[in-house]
Amino acid sequence: MSKADIGLIGLAVMGENLVLNMECHGFTVAVYNRTTSKVDNFINGRAKGKNIIGSHSLEELVANLKKPRKVMLMVKAGKPVDDFIEALIPLMEEGDIIIDGGNSNFQDTIRRTKYVEEKGLLFIGTGVSGGEEGALKGPSIMPGGSPKAWEHVKPIFQSIAAKVEDGSPCCDWVGENGAGHFVKMVHNGIEYGDMQLICETYQIMKDLLGLPYEEMHQIFKEWNKGELESYLVEITRDILAYKDADEQPLVEKILDAAGQKGTGKWTVIASMEAGIPLTLIGEAVYARSLSALKEERVEASKIISGPKPKFEGDKKQFIDDLKHALYASKLISYAQGFMLMREAAKEFGWKLNYGGIALMWRGGCIIRSAFLGKIKEAFDKNPSLSNLLLDPFFKEKVESSQESWRRVVTTAISNGIWVPALSTALNFFDGYRQERLPANLLQAQRDYFGAHTYERVDKPRGEFFHTNWTGHGGTTSSTTYNV
Ligand code: 6PG
Repeated sequence: MSKADIGLIGLAVMGENLVLNMECHGFTVAVYNRTTSKVDNFINGRAKGKNIIGSHSLEELVANLKKPRKVMLMVKAGKPVDDFIEALIPLMEEGDIIIDGGNSNFQDTIRRTKYVEEKGLLFIGTGVSGGEEGALKGPSIMPGGSPKAWEHVKPIFQSIAAKVEDGSPCCDWVGENGAGHFVKMVHNGIEYGDMQLICETYQIMKDLLGLPYEEMHQIFKEWNKGELESYLVEITRDILAYKDADEQPLVEKILDAAGQKGTGKWTVIASMEAGIPLTLIGEAVYARSLSALKEERVEASKIISGPKPKFEGDKKQFIDDLKHALYASKLISYAQGFMLMREAAKEFGWKLNYGGIALMWRGGCIIRSAFLGKIKEAFDKNPSLSNLLLDPFFKEKVESSQESWRRVVTTAISNGIWVPALSTALNFFDGYRQERLPANLLQAQRDYFGAHTYERVDKPRGEFFHTNWTGHGGTTSSTTYNV
């Protein structure tokens, strides 16, 4: 067999399927796995008869590659990535490329790009989304790193990526060093938000409206035909219809304690660092944390009481309200996500193409949806759009959803139904559109107890004042730095 176009290390679910996807698109792939029996099993199993070369050592893998060599790591994020980079560097030559396709923290990718470049090689840190099926049939791929590496991996990545209706691949160059992994991290944060929003609408349907599973299944089926069409709505539709062996809905038997691997948490940490109110994703992460306190909640439920959900009203109308509330809240979440990316781009010197990011997320990935097509249109019309809520289409959508949205949130709250994501979205909306917030009082409080100073509405920005509120404080004021 001739030499391989690319090498891949790590034959777990994502790795194996990516290899098969590459091969199916005409590329020869060399593979390696630390537990080498996995290589043999793969070569004699799913890879049999295909242009896939098994390697039993890193030396062999590297020797099997065309130059410039490209080695893609699909291993667990963290130390394993650093270990493989360390082991590969002496085996590779100037201009060769190491690619990390795991869910790595973007700060690690910034560090690794610098390190690998110092050794004369090139580095790519790329987000790959779409799970097992996406990896095999077309994932969304979000690469960043050394710009010089892009031309060499572009033909492979763009041919294996998912395609949208007009054939454009859901993969393009995101930006330098950690930009690709940053965008993938925000994707995952948004994934957390979308999932939580769907879960809250499900809980309202179940506990407030008392809908049977079949009806909930039908509602999600309907929603998936309209503007909420998305992969997550689609799988929810199917999950709600799925029966256990005893013909009861399987989802009812699943323990309500959510897991998380950390990318949502990273997104929220990044938002804190950047000073961007990423409230919806924040609530979605905390919602998982609260769910995980299962035993504590069970105890609390025996001690603390609240209203018993009781719906009085037009169910059909309320289900329609739920649809609007879900759409509007989702919009807030995406608006916040793009706010975060804009701020990070400034801080890290990335030139992010927001329409391009929406296109990358339009297909292949977990948050893929019709909605992302609309976001792409918004950024295509106005590439410097500062906030999605200001785009004429979305502004109209959110304004016309308001009544429904408020009905859903107030009804849920007055019935004691937990809606952290739906309500934080509405709260953000009500804060963002205010000319004046009560932060004037907050500044007064800070100045009162700590002489932290304040600016005045009748003076230019940047001039700071201190008042001796009690008459017995000193005249010394604190410094005015902001974090
Ligand atoms: C994807 C997903 C994936 C993520 C899992 C698990 O884009 O294919 O985002 O990368 O790791 O969904 O995430 P949690 O365990 O944190 O829910």
